[in-house]
Amino acid sequence: MNYRLMTIDYKLWTINLILHRKFKKMSVHKKFKRITTHALQAMKARGERISMLTAYDYSMAKILDAGGVDVLLVGDSASNVMAGHETTLPITLNEMIYHASSVVRAVERALVVVDLPFGCYQGNSREALASTIRIMKESGAHAVKMEGGKEIQESVERVLSAGVPVMGHLGLMPQSIYKFGTYTVRAKEEVEAEQLIEDTKLLQEIGCFAIVLEKIPAELGKQVSEMLDIPTIGIGGGQHTDGQVLVTHDMLGITKDFHPRFLRRYAELFDVVKDAVERYTADVKNRDFPNDKEQY
Ligand code: KIV
Repeated sequence: MNYRLMTIDYKLWTINLILHRKFKKMSVHKKFKRITTHALQAMKARGERISMLTAYDYSMAKILDAGGVDVLLVGDSASNVMAGHETTLPITLNEMIYHASSVVRAVERALVVVDLPFGCYQGNSREALASTIRIMKESGAHAVKMEGGKEIQESVERVLSAGVPVMGHLGLMPQSIYKFGTYTVRAKEEVEAEQLIEDTKLLQEIGCFAIVLEKIPAELGKQVSEMLDIPTIGIGGGQHTDGQVLVTHDMLGITKDFHPRFLRRYAELFDVVKDAVERYTADVKNRDFPNDKEQY
């Protein structure tokens, strides 16, 4: 064989190998790049919106993570959409840990935040820390979320002092539904709006990494988001918050009878699944399933 051709061939092979190694490294790096609280802060700084959805189980969390959502919230809305309770109050710490650990096992990229359930932190900061430590140790989650402002300051501070990132939650707080008496928009009046602004400042000051703003006027969402350095995540908080969150079962149309103004449905999965079940049932009844090729 011609020596010059052999040398060119060898050079091309070497370049190929180097490029292959470089790109393989890059794609692996990209695949496993995890979202951290610092990444969310950087997103706010460069004006990139943050996407957050709820997740309660392994299979759905895998799909949501593959879809590129930045934050998965193991919300206590599991009490409603997974367990069928009317409110978020009945869900227990053990149940939240079960949901959270299923989600954590599925996720490669998203930040996993877990709601501290009702009764595990209000009025008792030691219990807040003990509940948080159980969540972090037993589920492997990355952060917790708590509803409230000044009234839960001690709990938030104690959890933060253990090195666990805390996401705040203000506006409509479903764990306080019996105090509010209704799920309507919060902070429409000046006094409540002022209190909310003070609470957001306090949560930022003591070290929360982000705050959920639920069902408040868009103008207030804008004011707070512009005022704070940490990201705000809205659910019915208008278009100016730094990110948005929806309950996955609502946005996928798995739940049917919930139509708040802030909800955009991206699929009608109730109908899709019902149709599949109807066709399967008909095939079984008609002895059409399984056929010759679907058996051993
Ligand atoms: O539990 C939940 O799903 C939540 C969201 C509504 C923010 O707290």
